Amino acid sequence: MADDAIQARLDELRNSIRHHNELYYREAVPEISDREYDRLKEELTELEAQYPELVIEESLVEVVGDDRLSGFSSYTHREPMQSLDNTYSFEELEEFEKRVERLLGDAPKEYLVEPKIDGVAVSLTYENGLFVRAVTRGNGIEGDDITANFELIDNFPRQLSPPYPDILEVRGEIYMTNEEFERINEQRRADGQPEFANPRNLAAGTIKMLDRKEAKSRKLTWVSHGRGFCEPLNYEKLSSFFSDLDRWNFPLVENHWLVNGIQKSIEAVQNLDELRKTYSYPTDGAVIKLNSLELQDQAGSTSKAPRWAIAYKFEAEQAVTRLNDIAIQVGRTGTLSPVAILEPVQLAGTTVSRATLHNSDEIARKDVRIGDSVIVEKAGEIIPAIIEVVLAQRPEGAESYAFPESCPSCGTQVVRADGEAAHRCPNTIGCPPQVRRRIQFFASRQCMDIEGLGEAVVDQLVDKEFATTIPDLYSLKKEDLLTLEKFAEKSADNLLQALEESKSRELWRLIHGFGIPHVGSSASKLLAKTFFSLSALLEVKVDALVEVEGIGDIVAESIVSFFGDPDNKSMIEALMAAGLKAEEEPPDQSANKVAVAGKTFVLTGTLPTMKRSEAKTLIEAAGGKASGSVSKKTDFLVAGESAGSKLTKAESLGVSVISEAQLLDLLK
Ligand code: IVH
Repeated sequence: MADDAIQARLDELRNSIRHHNELYYREAVPEISDREYDRLKEELTELEAQYPELVIEESLVEVVGDDRLSGFSSYTHREPMQSLDNTYSFEELEEFEKRVERLLGDAPKEYLVEPKIDGVAVSLTYENGLFVRAVTRGNGIEGDDITANFELIDNFPRQLSPPYPDILEVRGEIYMTNEEFERINEQRRADGQPEFANPRNLAAGTIKMLDRKEAKSRKLTWVSHGRGFCEPLNYEKLSSFFSDLDRWNFPLVENHWLVNGIQKSIEAVQNLDELRKTYSYPTDGAVIKLNSLELQDQAGSTSKAPRWAIAYKFEAEQAVTRLNDIAIQVGRTGTLSPVAILEPVQLAGTTVSRATLHNSDEIARKDVRIGDSVIVEKAGEIIPAIIEVVLAQRPEGAESYAFPESCPSCGTQVVRADGEAAHRCPNTIGCPPQVRRRIQFFASRQCMDIEGLGEAVVDQLVDKEFATTIPDLYSLKKEDLLTLEKFAEKSADNLLQALEESKSRELWRLIHGFGIPHVGSSASKLLAKTFFSLSALLEVKVDALVEVEGIGDIVAESIVSFFGDPDNKSMIEALMAAGLKAEEEPPDQSANKVAVAGKTFVLTGTLPTMKRSEAKTLIEAAGGKASGSVSKKTDFLVAGESAGSKLTKAESLGVSVISEAQLLDLLK
């Protein structure tokens, strides 16, 4: 490769890794499989090793992802949470052992081999034997305080039986069992909602939900696999630390192997590959760790990962098949998504006939052509993806794929915003699939919940041009409905009745139904609860929005741009004219309660006359919000006896600290 080409590829890899880091760690909605992500990192590592002069100051290979989100308060780990070096080959495990021997001499070493759980890394802190805090990995140094949601998990100890270290950080993963994942998706199927991609991302999304009630409806589980800060540290071996974890009733991994040397470790990994199929949680590999804490200490770590441990990852399953066509799907917001139409092939237990191609850059980079033989991969529950083309089998005359310049549905010229990977059809009003999907979404269970207005009915309404905008739904006539397939007197009356009833749905459902980018059901509820009416939202400014706990910059910008758009304004006016309820009663306007309504409270310590849960109920009844963690958006910390870190934090942030009596005064 010429220098320029190398530089360009390096830039491309770095941008792509940054993009996927953001999707995986922060938004928990990855577009590519872990295996594909690891391949990007491998390629970057190789190029950087080959061309050290092109290495930038902070190589991305060395960086731990960052999962922090706005709406949570940050907490600095007493000991950093590191990542692990990865490999997919046994040879590299042998090299790992050689490296360990170079560092620590060649006396035989004891290794612990365990399953690698595909969950969300979290650190639990215990002070004087009491659970005080759960924090995500974040950027490795500081993470998000998720204690409030973590407390919904029921399989971890709140209190340790003595003896215990004064301060202890236990590391492990939050995961969702395959069974729970299936249960939730089954419910989603029944409700006509899109299914979640895999248990890991659902677990990550759930633990970061600001709406605790919603978080509670999905069961998460805890498993411990390591140690963070520990004072005093009275262990010689990791295995003896695990015995204590067991004594304190922490759940541990289902199997582990204590073996001598790397060859025995490899055998254990092979054993594990068989056993893991029976586990209740998703595993993506094995972790091999030195058992002696003294040797761990001597080996030390790099900026990203310890030198005393390595992760061996199991390969995703692959198959070769023919790419018959590339279809372009137009989404609700006009995004054009290329989909590979494949000759059906058996893969990881299912028949695969479609795979994602992400966007035009990906097609160009992999030079995917119709007629090619392609390698398809399925990792976990992730949507199958095309990894590469088998060039040796390329049919003669296969032409490079030209991404459409106009929308395959309505013919409008497509646009591509600066810095965005996706092409979009800008014809929001007249492009049939966009119109269909928008109306379908509006009518769905998760939004306005209009019975009898499923996808097939919406398709017909749009095709026959009875409804081409959301407000059109409210002027549908019975004689129009009677021309639809499978419609008779009764079904037409029922649908008109359901539309009538939907006019008084809760405000958040209406907001959610607009399909504002980045605004899901939780954010819609926040908006309804804070602003109480569409007229207020039509005027809202970014400054006021970011003041709301749980709404960040991107979401705020998106909301303001939606309500500022003239087409959206006229749609909202039309809906109001049709008689839809566009406002919600503020909780209670009486003078004293204003002091509580809309304010965020955090409760800590033992209150003199009531349980914290009772105080929470009172606050919520008066329109206030009870949150689990202190941040600069907290209005009041209600502190009882033996209040701990939350009190210190509130004081350092200048948050008002009040007593139970003062709270009762506010509520009077
Ligand atoms: S030990 C210094 N053991 O995988 C890190 N980690 O990809 C030592 N993980 O950050 C970690 N299962 O969150 C360890 N049995 C296991 C694990 C495990 C999953 C996670 C962990 C780590 C990540 C690295």
